[in-house]
Amino acid sequence: MKSIEINIQDAVYFAEKQYEANQAAAVEAMAKLHEGNGEGADFLGWLNLPSSTSSELLDRINKTAARLREACEYVVCVGIGGSYLGAKAVIAALSDNFADFYAPQPKNPKVLYAGQNIGEEYTAELEKLLAGKKFGIIVISKSGTTTEPAIAFRILKELLEKQAGKEAAKDLIVAVTDEKKGALRTLATQEGYETYIIPDNVGGRFSVLTPVGLLPIACAGFDINKLVAGAAEMENTTLHPGAENPCEIYARMRNALYQDGKKIEILVNYNPKLHYFAEWWKQLYGESEGKDGKGIFPASVDFTTDLHSMGQWIQDGERTIFETVLSVKEPAITRRIPEDAANLDGINYLAGKRIDEVNKMAELGTKIAHVDGGVPNMKIELNKLDEHTLGQLIYFFEKACGISGYMLGVNPFNQPGVEAYKKNMFALLEKPGYEKETEAIKAKLK
Ligand code: PA5
Repeated sequence: MKSIEINIQDAVYFAEKQYEANQAAAVEAMAKLHEGNGEGADFLGWLNLPSSTSSELLDRINKTAARLREACEYVVCVGIGGSYLGAKAVIAALSDNFADFYAPQPKNPKVLYAGQNIGEEYTAELEKLLAGKKFGIIVISKSGTTTEPAIAFRILKELLEKQAGKEAAKDLIVAVTDEKKGALRTLATQEGYETYIIPDNVGGRFSVLTPVGLLPIACAGFDINKLVAGAAEMENTTLHPGAENPCEIYARMRNALYQDGKKIEILVNYNPKLHYFAEWWKQLYGESEGKDGKGIFPASVDFTTDLHSMGQWIQDGERTIFETVLSVKEPAITRRIPEDAANLDGINYLAGKRIDEVNKMAELGTKIAHVDGGVPNMKIELNKLDEHTLGQLIYFFEKACGISGYMLGVNPFNQPGVEAYKKNMFALLEKPGYEKETEAIKAKLK
């Protein structure tokens, strides 16, 4: 069942020639992916991941999640970038908007995040929240050497061992990391934690459908079997090039617009549950395409909220942007606007309508205004927000990203630029092994 639909009718006429001309490039890019002969081909493990995920792996993940759900009020996911954004995107999309304000229920822990920043207050306040609470930790790092999660894990492990005892803490910690290398692998082996492997050939930003994303999502109580099944359907739908392949359409359209001078893509949602989905998407496209002096800048907004802040710029600013709208057909809950006898607020003309009818008219009105103002608009319609649809959407964006990156002429599967800040930070912190860099950076600062 197709749960997502792409519509480019309000974008294509902005760059019709480029769109028609780039079909061959899209087919070639897709062939590179399928044949594994493009740059970065060592990192194509995600391509067949949904269809090749075994039921044994899913069963094992569900079992670990059930154990943590039974034992914990909170499960803290420690990771950064591709090692946390996918889980957070899916969990936020499927959760009650106010889930964080309800107390944890038995067998239904809250999933929290750590190691995704180096905020001292964030870390200390998380410790304060967890003091005296039953909690578990999923520590996730592909390299096993990333500084942010390493700091958070050291602190949370110490707290957990203090509260639960060293032996019991071992059963409450699960590590997701490389099969053999990295400090986290060494630590997990020595401490005897349960571990999951991140496949070598799946990069961080493409890893949400590995245990990196699946374990936290299952801990939050969502159905990972349906998520993977949705992704597997999309994998199957996008096997061949052609006008029916939504990944090809999206990759071609955004490249055509880029060639026409549209350098910024804004991912728009009209449902606040999708805020973190856009954060995941920004990493996927930003890290995959922003290199060699090229790449569409991926931005995001939540509408209608941001129409009251960014609306002016989008309507009237520099014409270098295009929008891709994530639109959910049917909200899961019905709430109508009530009649009010006094009508002092003047909105009785809306009485009896679903709130979503107003939202949809805001969406349509905004599209017309932005298109009239010179902003091309693509729409990706989701039937509803559930695991199956999100699985389809994740795979759709991943595959389109691979095609789009090859069309752009970059290696979509490396991230050399991410290392620059780390090198300077290590030099400034005088990390052993960085003596030369420390000297050089100190000289620069004089
Ligand atoms: O996409 C990437 O490779 C990065 O964003 C990583 O996911 C991030 O740096 C975390 O790396 P690791 O999982 O090795 O700790």
